[in-house]
Amino acid sequence: MKTRIKDIIHQGTSADSCSFSGWVRSIRSSKGICFIVLNDGSTVEGIQVIAESALLNFSQISRIGTGAALTVTGALVESPASGQKWEVVATSIEIIGESDDSFPLQKKRHTFEYLRTIAHLRPRSNTFGAVFRLRSKLAQGIHRFFSENNFLYVNTPIITASDCEGAGELFRVSTLDALEPPVLDGRPDFSKDFFGQKTGLTVSGQLEGELFALAFGDIYTFGPTFRAENSNTARHASEFWMIEPEMAFATLADNADLAEKFIKFLCRFALEECAEDMAFFDKHIENGLLERVGAVADADFVRMEYGEAIERLQQSGTAFSYPVEWGVDLQTEHERFITEQIVEGPTFILNYPKDIKAFYMRQNDDGRTVAAMDLLVPKVGEIIGGSQREERLDRLELRMTEMGIASEPLWWYLDSRRWGSCPHAGFGLGFERLVMYLSGMENIRDVIPFPRTPRHCDF
Ligand code: 4AD
Ligand code: MG
Repeated sequence: MKTRIKDIIHQGTSADSCSFSGWVRSIRSSKGICFIVLNDGSTVEGIQVIAESALLNFSQISRIGTGAALTVTGALVESPASGQKWEVVATSIEIIGESDDSFPLQKKRHTFEYLRTIAHLRPRSNTFGAVFRLRSKLAQGIHRFFSENNFLYVNTPIITASDCEGAGELFRVSTLDALEPPVLDGRPDFSKDFFGQKTGLTVSGQLEGELFALAFGDIYTFGPTFRAENSNTARHASEFWMIEPEMAFATLADNADLAEKFIKFLCRFALEECAEDMAFFDKHIENGLLERVGAVADADFVRMEYGEAIERLQQSGTAFSYPVEWGVDLQTEHERFITEQIVEGPTFILNYPKDIKAFYMRQNDDGRTVAAMDLLVPKVGEIIGGSQREERLDRLELRMTEMGIASEPLWWYLDSRRWGSCPHAGFGLGFERLVMYLSGMENIRDVIPFPRTPRHCDF
């Protein structure tokens, strides 16, 4: 096993000999001594390496630019200089991969826009190191939460024949010849396609997740989802990851309770398990982040009916770009106003008009709303979308007819309402939106390793 710089820095005692590898963050010479800061991705801090002139000749030094890969052996000693507690007095430095001053990540601060154009190198910067360590830890925290709460982890399919959200945002998956597809009645004949029908990339694992909830009680999925939606915003990606729990014998209220418990767990988890990176975000990305995330971990999330949200938006007297009236879908500007100005904290909006929501949501007795819930949080807006599901076969079939959704391709979904149907509910948490919320990063392109957005799929 390799020794990681994080462990060396944290062991807290000096050592006669240690050895580690990493990439040069900076190098400078003074009075014949070389000072090299090396980082191996294990921690936001680098370790300072001191190399006496005898150790490196001129031609070697010229090959060690920022970005070079080195293996260093030396003595770990308390640093006399301020800025770091430990440093390493090198006894040997091996150049594994050289780098020169054409390396694009030189020490000066770069804009996030520029760093997106070098997404292949940005993981080697401090900010992106912190973002992707947080992202990795959070994924583990999510599995821990569900494991501790006895949820079954299920992998739902990525290639699918059904559009769960019914929004027509499926990317097509096909092996037909795009220029000369087989044609039937003037249209491409998908019965000749690879799967013998029209297929696409999933927008959500929910429908299949529901089937598993009706067998295992509580389940969750955690996987990539794809939406061919032409949204160029800081919060939409064409490929993103979603966590979707689903609970049998559960109502909308149970669903909101789970979502609240889950988000609070993740806030605490990030503060405890990613303390160094969270402190970095607090210092460099969003002042006050630690306090904000800590407050959410202890907050009571507000639950507000959609109808009340509309009234309060109207009463606010604010001129929104999208006018507010009962029946409209909430836009980001409305969502942020509710959670940032009206409530000043995480807010569930419950029971939306049925006409702006998906076919599978449970119809309320008022005849005009469904048991939907969105969780809105400051800075991000909608972070979770979910609902209690329509478990009554006749109501579900009627709704699908009203919405023009063919029942035949969803025969298996309808079957779940035929035998042993029961009230059940679930939600989807956008993983990137969670990482944004917990890091203070403001653009979804900066919390996913290689972002896919309309017209961008470069790496
Ligand atoms: O609200 P959505 O569309 O809900 C569903 O897909 C349900 N099937 C979930 C369920 O009930 N199991 O998406 C859920 C969440 C959103 O709240 C948002 O956080 C995220 O997924 N999301 C996106 N994140 C990034 N880019 C996009 N284009 C996103 N669309 C949704
Ligand atoms: Mg939604």
